[in-house]
Amino acid sequence: MAIQKINSLEEYHEQYAKSVQDPESFWAEKAESFKWKQKWDNVLEWDFEGPNIGWFLNGKLNITENCLDRHLETQGDKTAIIWEPNDPNEKEKRITYKELHEEVCRFSNVLKNNGAKKGDRICIYMPMVPELAYAVLACARIGAIHSVVFAGFSATSLADRIIDCTCNILLTADGVFRGSKQVPLKAIADEALEKCPTIEKNIVLKRTGFEVTMKEGRDVWWHDEVAKADLSFDAETMDAEDMLFILYTSGSTGKPKGVVHSCGGYMVYAEYSFRNVFQYKDDDIYWCTADIGWITGHSYIIYGPLLAGATTLMFEGIPTYPDAGRFWDVCDKYKVTLFYTAPTAIRALQSFGDEHVAPYSLDSLRVLGSVGEPINEEAWHWYNDKIGKGNCPIVDTWWQTETGGILISPLAGITKLKPSFATLPLPGVQPLLVDNEGNPIEGNGVEGNLCMKFPWPSMLRTTYGDHERCKQTYFSTYKGLYFTGDGCKRDEDGYYRITGRVDDVINVSGHRLGTAEIESAINEHENVVESAVVGYPHDIKGTGIYAYVISYNKTEDEEAERKQILDTVTKIIGPIAKPDQIQFVSGLPKTRSGKIMRRILRKVAEGEADKLGDTSTLLDPSVVDEIKNGALVNA
Ligand code: PRX
Repeated sequence: MAIQKINSLEEYHEQYAKSVQDPESFWAEKAESFKWKQKWDNVLEWDFEGPNIGWFLNGKLNITENCLDRHLETQGDKTAIIWEPNDPNEKEKRITYKELHEEVCRFSNVLKNNGAKKGDRICIYMPMVPELAYAVLACARIGAIHSVVFAGFSATSLADRIIDCTCNILLTADGVFRGSKQVPLKAIADEALEKCPTIEKNIVLKRTGFEVTMKEGRDVWWHDEVAKADLSFDAETMDAEDMLFILYTSGSTGKPKGVVHSCGGYMVYAEYSFRNVFQYKDDDIYWCTADIGWITGHSYIIYGPLLAGATTLMFEGIPTYPDAGRFWDVCDKYKVTLFYTAPTAIRALQSFGDEHVAPYSLDSLRVLGSVGEPINEEAWHWYNDKIGKGNCPIVDTWWQTETGGILISPLAGITKLKPSFATLPLPGVQPLLVDNEGNPIEGNGVEGNLCMKFPWPSMLRTTYGDHERCKQTYFSTYKGLYFTGDGCKRDEDGYYRITGRVDDVINVSGHRLGTAEIESAINEHENVVESAVVGYPHDIKGTGIYAYVISYNKTEDEEAERKQILDTVTKIIGPIAKPDQIQFVSGLPKTRSGKIMRRILRKVAEGEADKLGDTSTLLDPSVVDEIKNGALVNA
């Protein structure tokens, strides 16, 4: 039996009340619907001091039996994955649950044959092709911990992530098709692997046909290995609290951290939130446009939909290739009913003009979703009017890599919507707003820092290899609370509206980057002494990256140096982290204790240099004038 869906606002309120009064029985009831190899002893043990969080203790399971095996009898021939390639002229693929089960079992054998064991960390650096989904699920099936790295990251970023969790296997491809571009993925991986002696096997998928060099003894071809592998594989027994995956995400410091999710709680929450938020029905065609390299792809392309037995669409390409009508073309082609994307994509497509939407009927759509960053009202209305034709509820889903699943969101068609509001917490989620001293802010019509006061099953358990960092980052700012890093309003109706990060994290096109991480990449350039990065409002990306840079030698050719800095950032992190604006300065506004006053830099970048406030505590107030005078015009 599947998890029961909430069907009305009344039921939402009832369930919410129950989830607060008796969380354990609330979650036990949800968990009952899954296939467990052994039932749990206790539903929950927790303290936010450690933090120590355990759900469904001593329960045994394998998440892939719940994604695949349990659907075989009732819907083995249903399409599990529709794959739409980058090139609209290449043939799509439809993979049934039976076929997906077979492919996952087969690749589980490939992993075993190549020495993978339960508990190993396996790095996956791949294009958006069905084999990526097989690989993720095969890791879960054999009990290895997957760490997927977005294929747009650089060799340095890939190496850092492999080293941090000592992976012994890398899964990659010869190349990636992305719009009209092609990326030589294997060559990038080769560069990374020079620094990664722990990698014993690199299994390489042929996708673009690029010529690659294969290192004897380490590199093997995917198709050769698959051809040798058996078709059946008994899923490994996992403890509910065993690690399922690691996913690296940026924080306030220079080094990304490996967010750890565990098997049982993540499974329960992924399906629960998917069904309820989207109000999933059995004949839906669901499309989430994210990349599997981000948490959205983990929870809402792979695990959530497959746990629910849904048909999930995977798209290899980009929204603007071959033209800005691609998303809508794909929606019509497969009669997509549930469509989930990011505000950046919506704004970008809106900017290309309505003529790219006009040729498409879009009448299969029933629910629209938004994720990753605040959606501004203008984009919301365009999405609602032009794509949803005023008939599709928009679920503005707030969550994070660390939360594993959607925490605050409308339930489609049930919750009354308000543009740019994530609205209400799902039952089981207990938000709390606090002021900067950590005092709870009660009542409505208020604003504060968004925390959670009670655990939910898919919350992070630790940051890989560094529990203290997990404690410091999320559980120490406000005692006894999980701190999200987001600012938030609660309006007169008790509706939540996320206002953005309150820490040194910026959200660029829905991708999270630490300002310190970008600064340290810029500082790698040989002529850079110091840099400071801030976000500023950007029409398409939501937040743009504005960098202030001090050079050793004042350059004659600023444009050339800018380009070199962009290349450096691309090399160290990847193209997503390239600054939109670089202003060369001779000094930065610092306090007497040496702290950069970012407030000033933010105001200048936002084009509000006349509203700098008090600058009297600066060590050298004169730098401010220079910065103001040199502000880049289109910022
Ligand atoms: O600032 C919030 C923003 O994205 C951050 C989480 O980023 P990441 O871990 O990369 O996960 C993105 C996909 C879940 C949050 O701290 N964010 C995410 N969703 C929303 C949002 N901001 C406003 N509204 C949202 N719906």
